[in-house]
Amino acid sequence: METEYIIVDPLKPDQNALKKGARLLQQGEVVAFPTETVYGLGANALDVQAVKKIYLAKGRPSDNPLIVHVADREQLIPLVKEVPEKAYDLIDKFWPGPLTLIFPKSALVPGEVTAGLDTVAVRMPKHPVALALIKEANVPVAAPSANASGKPSPTEGKHVWADLNGKIPLVLDGGATKVGVESTVLDVTGDLPLILRPGGVTREELQSTIGPVEYDPGLTEKKVPRAPGMKYTHYSPEADVVLITGEAKERKEKMKRLFLHLTQEGKKVALLLSEETQKEMTGQIVPYYQEVLGSRQDLSGIAHRLFSAFRNCDLSGAEIILIEEFSHQGMGAAVMNRIRKAAGGVQDAPLTIDMGDLDD
Ligand code: TXA
Ligand code: MG
Repeated sequence: METEYIIVDPLKPDQNALKKGARLLQQGEVVAFPTETVYGLGANALDVQAVKKIYLAKGRPSDNPLIVHVADREQLIPLVKEVPEKAYDLIDKFWPGPLTLIFPKSALVPGEVTAGLDTVAVRMPKHPVALALIKEANVPVAAPSANASGKPSPTEGKHVWADLNGKIPLVLDGGATKVGVESTVLDVTGDLPLILRPGGVTREELQSTIGPVEYDPGLTEKKVPRAPGMKYTHYSPEADVVLITGEAKERKEKMKRLFLHLTQEGKKVALLLSEETQKEMTGQIVPYYQEVLGSRQDLSGIAHRLFSAFRNCDLSGAEIILIEEFSHQGMGAAVMNRIRKAAGGVQDAPLTIDMGDLDD
């Protein structure tokens, strides 16, 4: 299939491009479009055949449910059995924005969208192109991130092109996404709201609106996570990712030591660093590739650059990526969740190396 690629100005989206996208959605096709978090691959959520095309294009396992995107509140109501009280407060405060809410689903939503669950995930994206596209199509739009399954989510149109060229009819490129990590997925169906996936809205922000909010224990403990997508560890670059933990001095020392060891073994090693660490390491080592993610104080900036930095490491040909640990507070929760998933549990040393050997 030929993939058409149209650049649209997010401040003044071209009406013809939007109409073309909307028509494809109405005809049961898939369309890639920008949101404020990451690019989405959308289809009419009420059209089973269209939804199947999403799974096919991405190579996505069919047990991983999709988020349904709406452009206004009226579109939410037919999708759900009820809107819990707390959800109204959250919608008032955070929609449009990077917050996905889990509702009991209505009979209208096909099981293919929810992977057979009796709940449905819904969000209203805060991006003029996404909102205008959904409005024009006048259907709720099921959309996962527009990456090939297993790859980091796309934060630029060219990432979508790299993964899905030839597999989908249209990419709308509205520039780099603002947030850079996916939406927060929050389950409000029980008494205590649970974060199933940390994302663009922080736990602290949620708590200041509705009181106590907990993380799904499945996110950290060895339990099955309640968002099926969170069980897949490999949302990761091709290169192996190693997370370097500890306080500032310890982190720097570990990183240097591991870098030298791996480089001596002939490995191409990339570093993903904070500004602060990069300043301290300058002149001490020369990495195969390196990218500065931003100041350690600016976790939103780190989130914004993380996925594209992973992709750039792969483009550089690096075989191993060393990335430092950041704060787990605020946006740090989402940042560290994505880094841990990319590292697949590998911390401070690649699995093949015994840190004991490095201590001399
Ligand atoms: O920011 C975002 O959320 C992006 C943009 C495109 O909107 N979308 C996105 O979708 O990240 P996706 O499919 O990559 O991730 C959806 C996550 C998965 O972890 C999935 O398991 C979870 O939401 N999810 C969807 N429906 C659910 C449900 N009914 N119950 C629990 N988890 C659900
Ligand atoms: Mg995804």
